[in-house]
Amino acid sequence: MNFASDNTGPVHPKIMAALAEANEGYAMPYGADDHTAAAVADIRATFEAPDAAVFLVSLGTAANSLILATLADPWSAVFCHPQAHIQEDECNAPEFFSGGAKLILVDGPDAKMTPDALDAAIRNEETRGVHGPQRGPVSLTQATEKGTVYTVAEIKALCDVAHAHGLAVHMDGARFANAVATLGCTAAEMTWKAGVDAVTFGGTKNGLMAVEAAIFFDPKPAWEFELRRKRGAHLFSKHRFLAAQMQGYLAGDLWLDMAAAANARTAQLARGLKQIDGVNLDFEPAANIIFAHWSRARHAKALAAGASYYVMRGDPMVGDPDEMLPARLVTDWSASEASVDQFLDILRGA
Ligand SMILES: Cc1ncc(COP(=O)(O)O)c(C=O)c1O
Repeated sequence: MNFASDNTGPVHPKIMAALAEANEGYAMPYGADDHTAAAVADIRATFEAPDAAVFLVSLGTAANSLILATLADPWSAVFCHPQAHIQEDECNAPEFFSGGAKLILVDGPDAKMTPDALDAAIRNEETRGVHGPQRGPVSLTQATEKGTVYTVAEIKALCDVAHAHGLAVHMDGARFANAVATLGCTAAEMTWKAGVDAVTFGGTKNGLMAVEAAIFFDPKPAWEFELRRKRGAHLFSKHRFLAAQMQGYLAGDLWLDMAAAANARTAQLARGLKQIDGVNLDFEPAANIIFAHWSRARHAKALAAGASYYVMRGDPMVGDPDEMLPARLVTDWSASEASVDQFLDILRGA
């Protein structure tokens, strides 16, 4: 019953095998090896983007920050949702790596920006001349931090607004695969075909050990990104081990199989939770994350029985047993049907 995070689960055995295979012999460092060339080719093929500039890093925060630093100036605004990971959970890394770009928050329901709100926020900048932030890139998260998913049409509408103002669009795809599995579209349809300019293509939350790709569909900023990655201390020397993970990830569509499995467990959880009196879902789950409320007494029972998940506010063990406390549940590729059933049984009985 491990629903704390999609970072808690194991690395997929096929990825461990790919790492073991890459461990044979010697390979040139810093990305000058055959595995890296093959991984870059695999990503370009997956995204139907033969000219894309592709780089590997080990953290989502690094990919997001380095991409945004490349797309923004130190005096830029970066437009994002108030619940974006870059706003809430990256300890100002985008501001740090960009040398001062400022996040401007664009609200919208279900953790998604709306085109009208984005347009208004963009128009509101560059109204104070030299004194204010200058307009910069837009960053949207897919799947969102609340487990919702932008449709391809919604992504296109945001990109159209950004491009009408001459601004680039970044997608934080820490859970890119989960969103593709939900939408049943291609990686290209969810990105450059809809107008996205750069992507953080996540792998760590979906069965890899530690790899995210930074992808620029227009390769012009490639050299700047490379310099920023090195200067930012994120150029791995033993690059073949990042690359081997990414090769294993894309081979035979393992990335989509793992995401579909993770999403299926969340769908199973959501179906069960909806049938329990006194359990309220905060959002309609569309990928592999659920936010919900239930009583402290129920939390206490579930946690005492060994379930692992985040209670987002309050002490689940101390206080009014009827008080409703928020939970976040995340399923990864390895979550079993039985563990979801066991968890639902405990909540039902509590
Ligand atoms: C939406 C989103 N973006 C980016 C990240 C960053 O990942 P990392 O912890 O690898 O820096 C996370 C991790 O929780 C995330 O949920």
